[in-house]
Amino acid sequence: MSDKIARRRSKIHGNGVFATAPIKKGETVVRYTGRLLTHEVADDIYGGEDNGHTFLFILNDTYVIDGNVRGGIAKWINHGCAPNCEAFVIEDEGGDPKKDRVEIEALRNIAPGEELTYDYGITTDERITDAERALWACRCGAPNCTGTMLRSTRKGRSAA
Ligand SMILES: C[S@@+](CC[C@H](N)C(=O)[O-])C[C@H]1O[C@@H](n2cnc3c(N)ncnc32)[C@H](O)[C@@H]1O
Ligand SMILES: [Zn+2]
Repeated sequence: MSDKIARRRSKIHGNGVFATAPIKKGETVVRYTGRLLTHEVADDIYGGEDNGHTFLFILNDTYVIDGNVRGGIAKWINHGCAPNCEAFVIEDEGGDPKKDRVEIEALRNIAPGEELTYDYGITTDERITDAERALWACRCGAPNCTGTMLRSTRKGRSAA
């Protein structure tokens, strides 16, 4: 795991992660690592920093993984609207939420030089405001790019 990837400057944003060798569809590429924080502690530490940049990964209802501390290379993987990878939360067999883990798996064969992306899956049940859309603007460059890393799960339109 993770011997076929490297961190490089990305056209999407800042640093990204690129394949350095062929990666096969279904292969587990890397694990998302970092310190474990409860949602409450993460909110205390980072809640005021709503600038659209985050190294936090929601692990489960109790914990988030904070890639800022003890984070591995996976924290540099950018979001994509036509991703070539997917992030899976693997639940601990013993039911301990602290032991759940996140693995990034290839959705298709990936050639050396390609940037790895996965759908961050950031959802809100509120309507997305223009300000939020700008803050979380997506620059993945995919033909189907939605222009934002956020997705609203809100059903229908309100008359208001
Ligand atoms: C986990 S970091 C990924 C590494 C990041 N490129 C960097 O150099 O810090 C996540 C942040 O990267 C940026 N990012 C990731 N995917 C993006 C995209 N498709 N378009 C624009 N910015 C993106 C956003 O600021 C996001 O909060
Ligand atoms: Zn996009």
